[in-house]
Order: sequence, then C-alpha cells, then structure tokens
Amino acid sequence: MATDYLWFEGIPLPTSGFNIEDMKRNRDEFVVRDEDVIMVTYPKSGSHWLAEIVSLIYSKGDISWVQSVALWYRTPWIESIHGAESIPKEQGPRMYSSHLPIQLFPKSLFVSKAKVIYLIRNPRDIITSGYHFFKALKTVKNPESFEQYLEWFLQGNVIFGSWFDHIQGWLSMKGKENFLIISYEELQQDTRATVERISQFLGKELSPEEFNSILKNVSFEVMKENKMSNFSLVPEMFMDHTKGKLMRKGISGDWKNHFTVAQSEAFDQIYKEKMGSLPRGLFPWE
Ligand code: A3P
Repeated sequence: MATDYLWFEGIPLPTSGFNIEDMKRNRDEFVVRDEDVIMVTYPKSGSHWLAEIVSLIYSKGDISWVQSVALWYRTPWIESIHGAESIPKEQGPRMYSSHLPIQLFPKSLFVSKAKVIYLIRNPRDIITSGYHFFKALKTVKNPESFEQYLEWFLQGNVIFGSWFDHIQGWLSMKGKENFLIISYEELQQDTRATVERISQFLGKELSPEEFNSILKNVSFEVMKENKMSNFSLVPEMFMDHTKGKLMRKGISGDWKNHFTVAQSEAFDQIYKEKMGSLPRGLFPWE
C-alpha cells in the first residue's frame, strides 16, 4: 500500500509509472501534431470507455485491434511517455489519453490543431467510483472509509489533484473548434447519438454495420469481458484485483447509495462555492 503520492508542481500522482524529469520534458518539449487525437479526463470519468470508443471508431468497428492490444498501448497516457518519444504510426493520427490538468499538459497543444475530447462526469459518481477503485490500487493512498476519501477529494488530495480545478482549467478551451466536451451521462443515456458526435468531430464516416459493431463492443457487458480494456492485465504488484475492479457498475447515480444526506448537502455547498462563477446548467448533473 502506498502511503503518499509522487508530487509534480503541487499535483499528486501515483507512485509508479511516472517520472518527474520526463513529465517536465514532455510539458516543455513534446510536440503535439495537428493530426493527433487527445482524450482528456479526470480519473474515474470513463476514460477507458472513451478510449475504447475512439479505438473502435478508428478501426471502423473491427474488433481485432481492441481485442489484441492493451488499451494503454493503443492510446498511451501522455504523462507516462518518455521524453520526446513519439508513437510513430504508418497511417492515421496518434491517439493519446491524459489525466493531466491543463497547466501540466505539453504546451505545444495550444498552438496545434490536434483534436481534444474532454469527457466529464458527475463528480459525485467520480468520487464513488474512485473510492472503490483506489482501495484496490497499490500505487496511491488507499482510503479506509468513504468519508475519508470524500475529504481527500474535496481537498484535492487525490491523484491529478482537484476535480474543480481540472474541469475549470480545461473548460477554458470551450468554444474552440478542435475541442469537444462530452459527458458520461449523455454517453450513457444515448450512446448512439454521442458516439455519432464523436465520430463526426473526428471526421470519420461509418457505415451502419460499422456503427453497430462499435455500439455493441463499447457496451459495459462486452468491455467488462475484454481483458485488453478491463484492467485485469494490470499486475498484482500494482493492483489487488480482489479489492476492486475498473469495470465496477457502469451506471450514473450510484453516489446516492454512498453519500449521507449531510455529506450530500456539504458537497453541494462546496460545489456552489467552487463552481459558482460558471453559468448554471452547463453540466447534465446540475
Ligand atoms: P464505476 O466505478 O462507477 O462503475 P475510468 O476509466 O476513468 O477509470 O472510469 C471508470 C468508470 O467508467 C467506472 O465507473 C466504469 O465502470 C465506467 N465504465 C467503463 N467502461 C464503461 C462502459 N462501457 N459503460 C459504462 N461505464 C463504463
């Protein structure tokens, strides 16, 4: 069990898989290309779901890639790549995932035309998902109770820092034509329409058959069985698979089974204070 984090510019990170020198170099020197696609999420927002969707959009619904290559090779975490290393591809864009807050992201993004998809989720469900997941992950501080995890979350004392800062930072890109915001909630309510929005944003035309294959293979049930995407390949030294799973429930609103009334009211108050400057109704959970 990890008792603390690795720290980078005031942001807590897992104690394994990250190198501060590489991260600094990536921020200052990594060259984002115009044709790159970058999926940005705060942890537990549905990052793996989005990466599976985008993988399948690019393979036009052909499942051989998502069933033979682990997700972290398909869409590598930009924060974990070494130096200015790139992922050369014969064709098509490079695809990356990232949990980085905007101020730590490679600066070259902001002068590029790379497409960025920012996936958001009700923070109450992010907390609920994180509480269960981080009990099992051995490279982060493990919460002993929901109450303790909620407190850490509100303090930003969790990996990749404050959710409030993360979302407000990335929302500064809202309105740019290379920036798409989607929510876990809309993905769940209408997967077809949301996947369509993503494929349009990426400029990918799909036949009805290709589309149906994507929809089928990004369902919770199918992804849960895909060992290339469900985290089961993560070695025991990093994760105790008996304590938690990436593919846990895959629903919205499970927070109601975890928050007490008092916790919910306290959260609402803090939410109002921290997000109050944004227009109301921007997010599906408001
Ligand atoms: P729960 O813990 O609430 O079930 P991340 O990939 O950012 O770590 O997010 C993990 C969350 O996304 C988990 O939420 C997981 O179940 C959910 N998720 C992953 N794939 C999904 C899918 N195909 N459909 C619905 N939810 C999915």
